[in-house]
Amino acid sequence: MKVLGIESSCDECAASVVVDGKTVLSNVVATQIPFHAAYSGVVPEIASRKHTEWIQAVARETLEKAKIGVDEVDAVAATSRPGLLGSLLVGLTFAKAFAWARGLPFIAVDHMLAHLYASRLELQGISAPPPEYPFLGLLVSGGHSIICRVDAFDEISVLGTTIDDAVGEAFDKVSKYYGFGYPGGAVIDKLARSGDAKAFRFPLPNLYKKTADGGSRRYDVSYSGLKNAVINQLEQFRALPCPPDEETEKANIAASFQKSAIETLLRSLFNAVEDTGLYTIVAGGGVAANSLLRSSLAEKTVNGQKLRCLFPPAELCGDNGAMVAGIAYQYLARGETSSFTENASARVWAFKRR
Ligand code: KG4
Ligand code: ZN
Repeated sequence: MKVLGIESSCDECAASVVVDGKTVLSNVVATQIPFHAAYSGVVPEIASRKHTEWIQAVARETLEKAKIGVDEVDAVAATSRPGLLGSLLVGLTFAKAFAWARGLPFIAVDHMLAHLYASRLELQGISAPPPEYPFLGLLVSGGHSIICRVDAFDEISVLGTTIDDAVGEAFDKVSKYYGFGYPGGAVIDKLARSGDAKAFRFPLPNLYKKTADGGSRRYDVSYSGLKNAVINQLEQFRALPCPPDEETEKANIAASFQKSAIETLLRSLFNAVEDTGLYTIVAGGGVAANSLLRSSLAEKTVNGQKLRCLFPPAELCGDNGAMVAGIAYQYLARGETSSFTENASARVWAFKRR
């Protein structure tokens, strides 16, 4: 079964054709980065307008690359939540119109569940055997930092999340203040390779306060303290009569920040491993492309037991239509489709800390 997947939740206008929830035939991602770079962040109105202009061409290109005609598409899927409302509505409405016009089933999917699904896809003949449930999910992007227990492709229980900024957001904001470039994650990751991660000691969060219902924050993370500490360092540089060598300092800042940002995530993740006894971790979301995160988890043991960590290929960590088409197939296999009255939602409350 060939599913056309449409993703337009933020600033990537993306479409893909995936066979049987696994094999990626084509994956087209038209990035809007140049249109948002001047603002060092995504401008929602520009994003929805660009999606409106591009969506048809992106869908057409993905069908061409998959070498299939419109009449060979068996179902159409789109992200309906969470994300920028105006952007979501473009992809969602396009997918509905396509499905309606062709008399095809339509499936609305959750963006974060789709990110979690991405590591199950086969891209250019490469795939990993899918993990058995239950396992731990690590969903890290520009809008979310979620550590969860996963019992099925559509069944997650959030164990921990951020109490302030998302991890990707911290990369983006640090990069913005230092003028490293936009979006910040990939730029800092690259810059950090030539830096000394021990040059600065940035704080790890101390989440000693309990949740409103008295629960612990062992699996939660926080990034606003780290972000502010790194930004304050910039103010200190500016105040120096003789500023340090800029290129070296930039790389050192990037490496030191990245070390603390990833350590923060890992500390809470390893708490979850210890407490749940789940040693398989599946990562997804833009930050799952981070090289330090990937290398830190590659050979990691907790309580003497080696972790099994699955990451999507780098191309499928960020937003893409393949993860949307992939997960949609699983709903279809259960005989489920969505109604044409399905709406878009900016937020998913289940992803918030209880
Ligand atoms: O999943 P995604 O493409 O969009 C959202 O759903 O938010 O994630 C985008 C986020 C951005 O914050 C970006 O800076 C971050 O992922 N990111 C990275 C890396 N590549 C992208 N963060 C750290 N290291 C990377 N290599
Ligand atoms: Zn995303």
